[in-house]
Amino acid sequence: MKASVTKPETGTAGDIPGYFGSASIYSRDEIPAEAFSAVDEYVAAHPGGHERLIPVLHCAQSVAGYLPFELQDHIADLIGLSPVQVYEVVSFYHFFSRKPVGRHVVRLCKAVVEKHHGMAAVAAAFERAAGCRFGETSADGAITLGYTSCLGMSDQPPSALIDGVVMTRLDPAEVPGLVRRLRSDEQVRTRVDEGIVQTGQVIFAPMERGTAIRAALNMSSEEVINRLNGSKLRGRGGAGFPTAMKWDFCRKAKGEAHYVVCNADEGEPGTFKDRVLFSRVPDLVFEGMTVAAWAIGAREGVLYLRAEYEYLRDALEAVLDRRRRLGLLGDHVAGREGFSFDIRIQMGAGAYVCGEESSLLESAEGRRGAPRDRPPFPVTKGYLGQPTALNNAETLCAAARVIEKGPDWFAGIGTRDSTGTKLLSISGDCARPGVYEVEFGVTVSKLLELVDASDAQAVQIGGPSGACVAPKDFGRRICFEDVPTGGSVIVFGPNRDLLEVAREFTEFFVEESCGWCAPCRVGTTLLAKMLDRVREGRATRAELAEMEELAATVRATSRCGLGQTAANPFLTTLRSLPDLYEAKLSKRPYEPVLDLAQALAGAQVLAGRPSALKEARS
Ligand SMILES: Cc1cc2nc3c(=O)[nH]c(=O)nc-3n(C[C@H](O)[C@H](O)[C@H](O)COP(=O)(O)O)c2cc1C
Ligand code: SF4
Ligand code: FES
Repeated sequence: MKASVTKPETGTAGDIPGYFGSASIYSRDEIPAEAFSAVDEYVAAHPGGHERLIPVLHCAQSVAGYLPFELQDHIADLIGLSPVQVYEVVSFYHFFSRKPVGRHVVRLCKAVVEKHHGMAAVAAAFERAAGCRFGETSADGAITLGYTSCLGMSDQPPSALIDGVVMTRLDPAEVPGLVRRLRSDEQVRTRVDEGIVQTGQVIFAPMERGTAIRAALNMSSEEVINRLNGSKLRGRGGAGFPTAMKWDFCRKAKGEAHYVVCNADEGEPGTFKDRVLFSRVPDLVFEGMTVAAWAIGAREGVLYLRAEYEYLRDALEAVLDRRRRLGLLGDHVAGREGFSFDIRIQMGAGAYVCGEESSLLESAEGRRGAPRDRPPFPVTKGYLGQPTALNNAETLCAAARVIEKGPDWFAGIGTRDSTGTKLLSISGDCARPGVYEVEFGVTVSKLLELVDASDAQAVQIGGPSGACVAPKDFGRRICFEDVPTGGSVIVFGPNRDLLEVAREFTEFFVEESCGWCAPCRVGTTLLAKMLDRVREGRATRAELAEMEELAATVRATSRCGLGQTAANPFLTTLRSLPDLYEAKLSKRPYEPVLDLAQALAGAQVLAGRPSALKEARS
């Protein structure tokens, strides 16, 4: 492929000349012919409809390096879509590139934990070695440097995806050698530690393959659901919806087919427990999906795996193959006449909002990950418009254990309303980051003891969309009754600038907003700008009150959970640590947000009246 120096991608179709006209800025001979034939072969081997679009785009990009319009048009023709249906998908996802890139692409994680743990030095080393800035491609076309948000490796910073391969604990000293090897087209090797620090009695306790399935097959689907109901298992994806109720609604919903979908998008910065589940106990996740299939009457399951975890895919396909060979997937599962179920893996393409269940379904169907209006909920109209049980990977693991070991055993662990254990991904300023399986109800101070962080200034629970917990509240418990979390726990030591953290987290929402509704799209941007003014000591008390009003509006009027929680970095730091804001407030009674003289300066020069404003004032 011919590569060239490129500028960072800036967003809309309007940025790229030629798209809406007949001519493209790229000539066809820059695109390797193999990309077209790879796409033809893929489409021929995978009959179906619109839902194939994202896998086909991944296939095309893996050969061409990027997705030029000719290739997009070709794909549109092949799967019967309009060019714009393809373009809107390509432009939505972070991992699709519309412009040529180098032969090797480095995506360095720029999340706040990385910034606190040496990211800048690694970035500088990459720029020096590659001879280009982040957002650019080196002059020899070998290397493109870019940033990305959390890769699910927060316990091992600094980390990067290099040609889709994860490398953690990067050291600036190793970067020149790494770049040299990339220039000579050597393949990099995955470097990730397993990351489990504490195992518990539910998820990481040993279980023989097929035990939960056989137990389920000895019961009717109603009995399986009753057993789950008795366990009081609640969803581990964040919202805590009772799993038995979800499966029961789905089982009773009418449709041509029922589906089980496993949500492994894991995009909340600081979360990496699904990565560990899929590397350590993938069979348990598939066991849970199969139990769900029996309970709701599904023949097909989809594992929606985030693009950042592509490196796990081959191993997961091998696990699925082994389960087919063992008769635990396919026709007559575990020998049961009439029960057929299989699972396919669907890769995401880099979009945090696709963790939201309705966006995930849009994405799995080959569209932009824009949330759907609800009702109808996925249990009645989910994947391909059919009843769907969509669960977090950890929920499915816990469900399998409940069916194997019984509801009373499970309900005896944890608290009254939060039964069982929870996997926590703990990162930041602590001596022992990693995944911990703890009983629900554990206090924040107990966690800090476990991870050896005696001097924490604050702990962020539930990622940017969660809550900032200050030392006065370290006695609070991790559970649905008190502080709920999908799993992300980030510790901030005494020297961290928490206003900067709140700003970074808000910026994350600016970048990840799907843009559909104004409160989220505009509100997050305004909040980020206002946080800048606070940090610079320019915000007045009145402005802080305005920020609170704006945050309340964003929370109340956004369409989906992303916008509804996007003001949390500001609101929860303000509530937990008001002194941080108080210390920064401008003591001046009034300072205009807009510097009128500066704003008019350009126009005054053009009009030849540079002193107009001064005259008016005098
Ligand atoms: C912006 C956003 C991102 C989300 N990301 C995830 C995710 O990565 N994994 C997940 O299981 N749930 C995520 N959720 C919650 C899902 O919408 C859904 O509630 C969950 O997958 C249901 O599974 P459960 O009942 O097993 O928890 C997200 C929600 C929102 C609003
Ligand atoms: S709240 Fe944000 S992410 Fe959700 S639909 Fe609106 S713009 Fe999209
Ligand atoms: S991988 Fe970088 S913060 Fe999570």
